[in-house]
Amino acid sequence: MLKNLNRFQEALCKREQAGTLRTLKQKVEGVDFYSNDYLGLARSKEFQNILLEKINKNPQLLSGSTGSRLISGNSKVVAFTENFIAEKHQFSSALLFPSGYNANLALFSTLPDRHDTIIVDEQIHRSVHDACTMSNARKLKFKHNDIQHLESILERQTGHCYIAIESLYSMEGDLAPICEIAELAKKYEAALIVDEAHAFGVFGNGLVDQYGLQDRVTANVITYGKALGAHGAAILCNDTVKSYLINFASPFIYTTSAQDFQWMSIKTGYDFLEYHKEFSILLQENIKIFRSHGLESPSSETSPVQSIIIPDNQKLKSLQETLSKEGFLTYAIYSPTVKEGTERLRICLHSFNTETEITRLTEAIIDFI
Ligand SMILES: Cc1ncc(COP(=O)(O)O)c(C=O)c1O
Repeated sequence: MLKNLNRFQEALCKREQAGTLRTLKQKVEGVDFYSNDYLGLARSKEFQNILLEKINKNPQLLSGSTGSRLISGNSKVVAFTENFIAEKHQFSSALLFPSGYNANLALFSTLPDRHDTIIVDEQIHRSVHDACTMSNARKLKFKHNDIQHLESILERQTGHCYIAIESLYSMEGDLAPICEIAELAKKYEAALIVDEAHAFGVFGNGLVDQYGLQDRVTANVITYGKALGAHGAAILCNDTVKSYLINFASPFIYTTSAQDFQWMSIKTGYDFLEYHKEFSILLQENIKIFRSHGLESPSSETSPVQSIIIPDNQKLKSLQETLSKEGFLTYAIYSPTVKEGTERLRICLHSFNTETEITRLTEAIIDFI
């Protein structure tokens, strides 16, 4: 144990010296340019009041689920919510998970077997990499959003392949060429899995839905901790995939189901968004305002995540601290979370940010750079 402790301390020291030590900080007051609450649902009093009303009518929603889904935890609320979600996204099935991390862990550790290859975009979320480690399949990476590179990899494979992409990438804030990738998946008979953690809610029910690609994807992952202001995730798929996951996915089987409150708040979130389409319109207006200031960014012009590359950990840290002193909460992403030389300030725009706040933020960045 002592030997390991030394190793832990050395690793932490290294991070501290590089200025990249992660610590848990209390939330501070300031203008939110860092949370994933893109549509402001997590701060909406109206949404909170609707949830409260439901809880008052049925306090049982707050209680523990008492067991895994396969034993005593499969409530009417979770089954009802899954049916609702499947229908909403026009898939035959949906399977709920307590978080997107768990959903990805279940999918990629379970569907591919040892003869298969998982081809991931190099910027795919960490949860997919962790799941690949749990699976017995081989993992290959293709250059970010590079369909030529993806095809060159697909061409060389003899066994079955899975392709893992996000529709909107959370580090770069750019969109995947999802229709072209779906074409490649069809051509090479590969299974396509699309994670829509950041696109859901921002672009309606996600880009798979907007492009009508339901029949082209093996699974579509939707998460609810971002634009929906709640928590949890759904895997959208066909009945066989759902049943296979229920039978073989350890992250689904060996855990207590979440409380009904979580599933109820997801269903309520969908209904709330249905009546509040103005939030995503306001968000797009704010993204436009931000982009109009001309800061150089690799992010898409419709993305709520706008990254500013500052390829120097110290300079990046100093920029983030300067902004923080001015009351702007942003998030700096250092290497090794992103590749060395691509360290960045990650700015998240929201429906509730004001024009003045966005203008003051961009001016402060321009002054610093
Ligand atoms: C692309 C992507 N997938 C999955 C997840 C995990 O989702 P959750 O936060 O619900 O665990 C995240 C969260 O950061 C994400 O960005």
